[in-house]
Amino acid sequence: MPDHPARLTVLVKDSLSDLVEAAAAHVRRSAADAIAARGQFRIALAGGSTPRALYPRLVAGVDWSRARVFFGDERAVGPTDPQSNYRMAQETLLGPAAVPPENVVRWRGEDPDLDAAARDYERALTAGATPPWLDLALLGLGPDGHTASLFPGTSALAEESVLAVAVDVPQLGTRRLTLTYPALCGARDVCFLVTGHDKASAMAAVVDGGRLPAARILRRGGPVTIFCDRDAASALQNPERFKEAT
Ligand code: 6PG
Repeated sequence: MPDHPARLTVLVKDSLSDLVEAAAAHVRRSAADAIAARGQFRIALAGGSTPRALYPRLVAGVDWSRARVFFGDERAVGPTDPQSNYRMAQETLLGPAAVPPENVVRWRGEDPDLDAAARDYERALTAGATPPWLDLALLGLGPDGHTASLFPGTSALAEESVLAVAVDVPQLGTRRLTLTYPALCGARDVCFLVTGHDKASAMAAVVDGGRLPAARILRRGGPVTIFCDRDAASALQNPERFKEAT
């Protein structure tokens, strides 16, 4: 079992409602702290389906006029495609919260040149800012231990300097756009949102075994909070050993 820095908190909740409310409270605090300290809140949203339950809880309670919204990753699709992470966020948060479009930095997943799209995304991530580029990175966890689009066995895992890449994901038979470890591990704060029994083995491998792509983010040295349900936590060794998130 890897010795995790004391900065890892695993918060196990019995209901999805309690889980997303705890996560939403964490995001609201992160936003208020960032805006008070630096006048802006720089967040990278997670994709996939789990955040659909969280994002409506963030429509209120965050000053989105002072935010800059990024995405941890994106599929190689346009903004109206049902697979688009941007579309999911637009439907559940960005639209309902009337986040100013100029505050949202979308990956150009529709670009025939995804490498150029990734280079442009890195420029947008760093424009007018200094590291850490993100105040908060929201992430999910795949059953194979991927997070964002950092999939096992892919070239993006080896990237140690570039912040945003296009990457071949053979197991999906497609390309993805993703922030890399330098961008995600360097965030001031990182939160994972993980639910469902299909994530239990990945959670155990990542938290207890220190393996699979998401594990490296847990070892980053900065704070990491995993908001999960009992199903996702069901294979963890001694889940009670983690301190409760405040
Ligand atoms: C994506 C996400 C990906 C996601 C996990 C979990 O684009 O799909 O960035 O990393 O967070 O695959 O997805 P679910 O929330 O759908 O289980």
